[in-house]
Amino acid sequence: MIIVHPLVVIGDRICRNPYYVAPEQYLSPDWPRHEANWMMTNLEKLQQSQDSLRVSQERYRSLSRRLLEQQEHERSALARELHDQLGQSLVAISLNLEAIEDELSPSSRARVPESTQIIRKMIEQVRTLAFELRPSILDEFGLVEALRDLVTRHGQRAGGRVSFTAAPTDARAPVEIGTACFRIVQEAQTNVARHARARHVEITLTAQDIALEVTVKDDGDGFDVEQLRTGLGLIGMSERAELVGGSVDIESVPGAGTTVRARFPLPSPQGVAGTDQ
Ligand SMILES: Nc1ncnc2c1ncn2[C@@H]1O[C@H](COP(=O)(O)OP(=O)(O)OP(=O)(O)O)[C@@H](O)[C@H]1O
Ligand SMILES: [Mg+2]
Repeated sequence: MIIVHPLVVIGDRICRNPYYVAPEQYLSPDWPRHEANWMMTNLEKLQQSQDSLRVSQERYRSLSRRLLEQQEHERSALARELHDQLGQSLVAISLNLEAIEDELSPSSRARVPESTQIIRKMIEQVRTLAFELRPSILDEFGLVEALRDLVTRHGQRAGGRVSFTAAPTDARAPVEIGTACFRIVQEAQTNVARHARARHVEITLTAQDIALEVTVKDDGDGFDVEQLRTGLGLIGMSERAELVGGSVDIESVPGAGTTVRARFPLPSPQGVAGTDQ
């Protein structure tokens, strides 16, 4: 038997006493009126707590949204600086080296190819860093091209077989959804490289009338989704998606790979075709 209310024993009577009030009060003739008042007061308090919880959640969401927007903005500025300043300066050094090569003594000239090689590597690193901070391709050519570029770069680094398909191939989404989608794929791919030991990764983007869906599926080690995780990546994915009205679902089986699926609502079919990414 399950007893859900505390009991009070008064003389030979056993009563239910859900409110923990003194027995005399509970048994007095005007208790029903008290009880009604008491319940009304508590319901009002409950309503007030729920209202203030809703307000706090709304504030938290709008703060998170602003923080993410600010972060994207700063990343964008940093990426531009890296590309335009550091990148261009390195190119200039490389050209200068080539220009003076013939004037150098034979022993100094022998060091030019190695130096040029180092500078080329630095230029490549600066470009990769700038791309990861904020791919200008996302703003200029949209989500599909940005994802294609991300997948290619990542595939080159990770070494596994990575495929990308988009349907339709010119799928577009509002800026904030495109950014969230891009960052989620970026984190999912990083996770594959760091944790999965996968041989094959499939990335798919599908846009229908009212929803955009992206999946990152690997055939790697998998993990137990229910177990407590310490990283911030998976939490960040869900938060990013939720802030633009979407959601992330992770399916993983130890030994049988992982699928990360993010879904975003699109404003309207016209909105999809006419927006920025
Ligand atoms: N594709 C995957 N294959 C196998 N395990 C994964 C995969 N993605 C995530 N995991 C597991 O889930 C854990 C949590 O991932 P999460 O991205 O949140 O954190 P992290 O990658 O460890 O650290 P970070 O905060 O830098 O992202 C990982 O440590 C890993 O054990
Ligand atoms: Mg991670």
